[in-house]
Amino acid sequence: MKISINIDQVQEIDLPKILDERGNLSFIEYPSHIPFEMKRVYWIYDVPGGENRGGHAYKNLYEVIIAISGSFDVEIDTGKEVKKFKLNRSYKAVFVPKMVWRSLSNFSTNSLCLILASDEYLTDDYIRDYEEFKILSSIFTQV
Ligand code: TYD
Repeated sequence: MKISINIDQVQEIDLPKILDERGNLSFIEYPSHIPFEMKRVYWIYDVPGGENRGGHAYKNLYEVIIAISGSFDVEIDTGKEVKKFKLNRSYKAVFVPKMVWRSLSNFSTNSLCLILASDEYLTDDYIRDYEEFKILSSIFTQV
């Protein structure tokens, strides 16, 4: 089955920010803020300086990435176009569709990367080889 991969689907999402002198609060809800129901939440932390995470694509998974604390860069590659985001606010998220190559880098000290995923952890859903991703993405419709 062909799907459309469009770099414009990869967007920064502004989450609600409830300002309060006792401390601010943000939240994320389906379907108001994200286009999928989440089945899994995981987080990446204690990343040593200079390390990169997440160099892979998913065949079917959708994700939302948030810098709950600190900052890091998210790079999204559709196989044809690349989009980069610097996440450094806990009320900003990046929506990552399936069949894009996503990489996380430039983690600040004590940064906390929270990821909401549309499915359970499925090893077979991963594409870990960039050349394989390029081939697979090229047979998908690019719009
Ligand atoms: P991986 O997704 O490769 O991490 P990254 O995106 O940072 O490269 O996962 C690293 C390891 O953690 C891998 O052995 C699988 C395991 N893992 C789980 O068991 N469950 C999960 O939900 C995730 C995301 C990873």
